Formats: sequence, C-alpha cells, structure tokens
Amino acid sequence: RPLVTAIGGAVTLGLASVALQAQAATEISLGHTLSSTSHYAVGAQAFKETLEELSDGAFTVTEHTSGSLGGEREMIEGLQIGTVDIVITSTGPLGNFVPETYVLDLPFLFEDYDQARCVLDGELGDELLAKMSDHDLVGLAWSENGFRHMTNSRREIASPADADGLRVRTMENEVHQEAFRQMGARPTPMAFPELFTALQQGTVDGQENPITVIVATNFWEVQDYLSLTGHVYSPSAVLGSPILLDGLSDEEREWFHEAARASAEATRGEVSRLEEEGVALLEENGMTVKTDIDIGPFQEAVEPAYEIFTAEHGSEMLERIQAQA
Ligand code: PAF
Repeated sequence: RPLVTAIGGAVTLGLASVALQAQAATEISLGHTLSSTSHYAVGAQAFKETLEELSDGAFTVTEHTSGSLGGEREMIEGLQIGTVDIVITSTGPLGNFVPETYVLDLPFLFEDYDQARCVLDGELGDELLAKMSDHDLVGLAWSENGFRHMTNSRREIASPADADGLRVRTMENEVHQEAFRQMGARPTPMAFPELFTALQQGTVDGQENPITVIVATNFWEVQDYLSLTGHVYSPSAVLGSPILLDGLSDEEREWFHEAARASAEATRGEVSRLEEEGVALLEENGMTVKTDIDIGPFQEAVEPAYEIFTAEHGSEMLERIQAQA
C-alpha cells in the first residue's frame, strides 16, 4: 500500500510539474503593419521559430499582422507602455521617438543595399539601437523595408517636375515630408493602415514604398504608375518593450536579440528576392513601370532637405555614414 501511495504521489507530482511548465510559457505579442505574405511576416516567422526553439517553448510568439494593433506610431507607443512586446516597424515614425534615427531617412543617403546593410550592421547601427533605451524602447536589430519608389494614379514620373502638385502620402516623418516638399509635391503624412482607402477614394494621388510593400498590398488595384526612383532607403527595426525585456534574465534577453537577428536576416532575404521578381509581377498586374530614371535632378531637388536636417540635428552621424560610402 505505501508503495502504491508513493507511486500515486509521484505521478501526481509529475502531472503537476507538466501543468506548471505549460502555465509558465509566456506569450509574446509581435505586431507589424503588413500582410501575412509580406517580408515582415517572413521576419516575424523567423523570430517566432528562433525564440521558441532557443527558449525550449518557454516563450511562444503570436503574430499580429496588417496593422491589427494599429499603425506603426501607435505600436511604438504600445511598446513604451507594454501593450505589445515586439514590433517590426520602418523608421518612418521612429524619429518622433528617437530623433537620432532621422539621419537614416535622408533621401539618396545610401547607394545600394550592401552599403545600407553594412552601416546598420556596424558601429553606427549598434549606437542607434542602444539609443532606443533612452526613449523607453529596446532596439533589438536592424531589419529592412527596402528602397522606396513612387507610385501614383495620375501620370508617369520621370523627373521632379512630374511630381509637381501631386498629393503624395508620406510616412509620419519630417525628413521625408521635407524631401517631397522640395520636389514640388504636396506631402500628406498618414498612417499606413489608412493608405489603401485614401488612394481608392482619391484623397491622395500617390504614395511611395519599396517593391516588397507595393506587392504585398496589391497597390496595382489603386495605382497605375510606378517610377523606380529609389529615392530613399527604408530600414526597419525589430523593437522590444522594456516592460517585458527589463524583467528578463541576461540569457533570456539574449534569446530575443538572437531571434531579432534571425528575423532581420530572413526579411532581408525576402526583400532581395522581391527586388528581383516584384517589378515583373507588378507589370503583369497592369502597372506602367518607369525604370530608366535619371536620379540626378531628384538628388538636386532634395538637396535643401540636407541643410534643414543638419541645422536641426547636426552633421556628425551624417558625416560618419558618408565617410563609409
Ligand atoms: O509606408 C509605410 O508606412 C511603411 O513603409 C510600411 C508599409 C508600414 C512598412 O514599414
């Protein structure tokens, strides 16, 4: 009888510990604004797989797509107050929280993907990630959105003169807005979840985003013209909430950093793939694509945006990036 009781006790204890382990799994919410077929979704999946594997299931990740947690600005606020744990966001609204990142939003700053990735993966990128903690955010890794191009419903854009008077939705980013003003367009800042309807209803004529986003959002349904202006490189960042991360052990925090790096790598792979294949897909869906654009006049037009930027934010970071070119 005592043996039976002992076995019974051990089984009960075993079951209790399995139940405890199951309870102990912490659910992590991860938000982004793009669809479940986008490059951000590829990055979110890599984050989930890596974190769940490294933590042996102690953390499980739930992905919230298509701006279901709000626009990027709202989600960054969510990180600060702890209503979301991880966010993949462009730098669009980030400068409103961490002004040091505005330098990355300057038009024609980076020439190509290799240069941009090299700067973000280097000392300057690390410094910017570290700065996030002064603003109630945790910078986990630099990821990618891509070089931005202009689309619109009115006409082909081959020079800044063609953009004159065009109502172009920009991100909620003062550096981008200034660049479009200098081109003669009428910049209209707006959160991404509102954009499709605004294009559909003609509240704005155009928008600018990387090929990845134009593909993932079916913009061909509301935009006829695409011009490969590549006017600005758009990084994205994998950010965490200090409310979650500050309470973790060093080992656990390192899992999050590793998951964010895996996310960035997977996202960049998808951006590169779509840069190759996306334009043909957009043409197949009826967009008129202007490829051979002389970017010289665009660069000249946006030059004053640099002066306005350095007057406000200084030139140290900018010079360091330019020295790496
Ligand atoms: O245009 C934007 O707001 C951003 O590029 C997007 C699509 C939300 C991706 O970060």
